[in-house]
Amino acid sequence: MKYEIPFNKPSVVGKEIDWVLESIAEGHISGDGPFTKRAERKLQDELGIERVLLTTSCTHALEMSAMLLELQPGDEVIVPSFTFVSTANAFVGRGVKPIFVDVRPDTLNLDEKRLEEAISPRCKAIVLVHYAGVACEMDAIMEIADRHGLVVIEDNAHGLYAKYRGKYLGTFGAMATQSFHETKNFTCGEGGALLLQNPELIQRAEIIREKGTNRARFFRGQVDKYTWVDHGSSYVLADLLAAYLSAQLERRETIQGARSRIWQRYMDSLQGWAGERGIAVPTIPEHCEQSYHLFYMLMPSREQQQQLIAHLRTQSILSVFHYLPLHLSPMGLKHGSAPGGCPVTEDISGRLLRLPFYASLSETEQSRVIESILSFRAQV
Ligand SMILES: Cc1ncc(COP(=O)(O)O)c(C=O)c1O
Repeated sequence: MKYEIPFNKPSVVGKEIDWVLESIAEGHISGDGPFTKRAERKLQDELGIERVLLTTSCTHALEMSAMLLELQPGDEVIVPSFTFVSTANAFVGRGVKPIFVDVRPDTLNLDEKRLEEAISPRCKAIVLVHYAGVACEMDAIMEIADRHGLVVIEDNAHGLYAKYRGKYLGTFGAMATQSFHETKNFTCGEGGALLLQNPELIQRAEIIREKGTNRARFFRGQVDKYTWVDHGSSYVLADLLAAYLSAQLERRETIQGARSRIWQRYMDSLQGWAGERGIAVPTIPEHCEQSYHLFYMLMPSREQQQQLIAHLRTQSILSVFHYLPLHLSPMGLKHGSAPGGCPVTEDISGRLLRLPFYASLSETEQSRVIESILSFRAQV
């Protein structure tokens, strides 16, 4: 079904088409070409991170992080249950057991107060998600990780350019991953990035990303032949896609400006109405600068969530639910465990809905969404 107001719409905001054509004209559409270097350098400079490696997806960047950690079957990693499958699947693929921890009821981020009870001697890492691009409580989490000798990996698929106490998300952990999937603020269709600080990890990551070869060193003239030196796969993003992505990153202010206006208008228009009906809107703690990735509402019940989705559908507006609890999924039950239970995840997962949100959403379209919501009458 085609909706007049979809949930997401990919946008062309600047030189995307010109640069894709330029990449073809220059004869370099495969990986690690000029546009890849341009995007990587831009992100490195802006975020203040040692190395950004563009990848084919955030999922693949997470898989690379699992390889870099040299995790063994029987090792454990902590992940929130309220996340996308890849956050856990990347580790399960290496025989690692995901230990699911519940989220906070306000930000829907990994609950730092529930972390320590989940840490066993086999635990090697905490993989956290900054849900909707609103930061996890990084001071507390980093302190716990340091005390237990655990590596922190930030799945920052939602949170490019968001900050926690003035510091960019993706720069706290030993590794972080980004997504440039069509639904993200900055996109090239499918794409991602791995963010690294440590020189040894950087060197190995270049190899893992290039099918286990030292090809990156060969291209830099550091070795005269390249060969198979480690595990790896094909994780390099095509320069054709990096051209599209570079053009989007170039228009950071335009995209983020539009998204922040849309988010704020949803908030201003819906907060009061929602409050009177026991519907929650996003919580943004004062010390967090969000990325304006999602606008969601938490309905009082699953029935009302379904009713509102159906109501909006009758107006040709698409609103969507989000993650199902991973600890209750067939794979989560088979490979993982949730020692303390995840009651918050189970509660919110069936009540959440996300509203149409993309940089080119016009004021008129957004008014239609808002008016449709304000005219919703729950049948209880
Ligand atoms: C938190 C989170 N991590 C990872 C991913 C996977 O991203 P990708 O599609 O780039 O592999 C998603 C996808 O939406 C996500 O929401």
